[in-house]
Amino acid sequence: AIDTIDAREILDSRGNPTVEVEVLLEDGVVARAAVPSGASTGAFEAYELRDGDKGRYGGKGVEKAVAAVIDELGPAVEGIDAADQRIVDATLIATDGSENKSNLGANAILGVSLAVAKAAAASAELPLFRYLGGPNAHVLPVPMMNVINGGAHADSNVDIQEFMILPVGADSFREAIRAGVETYHALKGLMSKQGLSTGLGDEGGFAPNLSSNRAALDLLMEAIQSAGYTPGKDIVLALDVASTEFFADGAYTFESQKKSAAEMSAYYADLVANYPLVSIEDPLAEDDWEGWTTLTQEVGDKVQLVGDDLFVTNPERLAKGLQLGAANSILVKVNQIGTLTETLDAVALAQRNGYTAILSHRSGETEDTTIADLAVATDAGLIKTGAPARSERVAKYNQLLRIEEELGEAAVYPGLAAFPRFSA
Ligand code: PGA
Ligand code: ZN
Repeated sequence: AIDTIDAREILDSRGNPTVEVEVLLEDGVVARAAVPSGASTGAFEAYELRDGDKGRYGGKGVEKAVAAVIDELGPAVEGIDAADQRIVDATLIATDGSENKSNLGANAILGVSLAVAKAAAASAELPLFRYLGGPNAHVLPVPMMNVINGGAHADSNVDIQEFMILPVGADSFREAIRAGVETYHALKGLMSKQGLSTGLGDEGGFAPNLSSNRAALDLLMEAIQSAGYTPGKDIVLALDVASTEFFADGAYTFESQKKSAAEMSAYYADLVANYPLVSIEDPLAEDDWEGWTTLTQEVGDKVQLVGDDLFVTNPERLAKGLQLGAANSILVKVNQIGTLTETLDAVALAQRNGYTAILSHRSGETEDTTIADLAVATDAGLIKTGAPARSERVAKYNQLLRIEEELGEAAVYPGLAAFPRFSA
């Protein structure tokens, strides 16, 4: 059973405060979890509690969330068996008492939820992926590596937030990482030669100024080839447009022009026809259900359409999307919803309905690697956790290397089969 819960303020990868929670079980096991934080956050995400005291960390301190853990959430779950995750999470939600976790903060609640799961796994003497996924958990995820950062994650002029490479042709996770890293380094060399800035964005990708969004895709195609790989076979591409960020008053301001949902959709159809593009996240805004449904009808059989700000890992918003036929995939971020239970519910709902689920980091991250284990535990087959550079990003990839090694011959790297829509 849970003995005591403690919390502290630590730093994330952007140098902002975040919550770390430590759980002590009665059997002496100690586990901790740290909470990530987004920049291009969806309006419908669970509430992230920050102090708002401008005299400390520009208002971004999390002392209130830390106090919420120590004074309210901890005492509420102390004495509960750590293996009763659903009861722990339901208790956390009830203790907060609000619709969107705005009383005590989703950052406080999530820290407790994840730390309890880790403690339960350690107490059962199982790795987290095995504890959560059971004896059949054996599929490593395809890494969706964000190697060019734009939008809200960079100071450049590039509208699209993430340009990703997916090493689908590898026959193991280890070899996939190698292909991604070699391409990342080839990209850097290419950019230096062209006089482009090789400074990095928030997720470890390069953040150059470019003549267009297509120019970024062209750079990736060239980098893949110069690393000795074949685009479309060894490595395919994905985008996170994060279009809510440039949507206002019914229009998308893209490449300095105002565009409708239909014009954006035509642009995407053209990209899908001309690049080995297998996945587009948030192509349309978080409230543009009609545009999403039309786009899904038009290109949903050719490309994975991922709802991030659209669904915010919320089973209720996902249910609406399923009903309308909006998107065919969900991005899964633990802090968008705020408990492990609700995260697993969102993944299960997606998978039962033929939507893929992608486990994802946030642009503000820590050394916590929970999402790596979650990707294997849920059989998601896909993970999005940034460039293969910067420790808060590679911590997740490194954890997956360890899991693959631990699984030994049982490990499966799915490659393109992670996209059942195209490989069936
Ligand atoms: P965020 O970005 O963590 O800043 O929200 C990640 C994403 O949009 O997928
Ligand atoms: Zn996104």
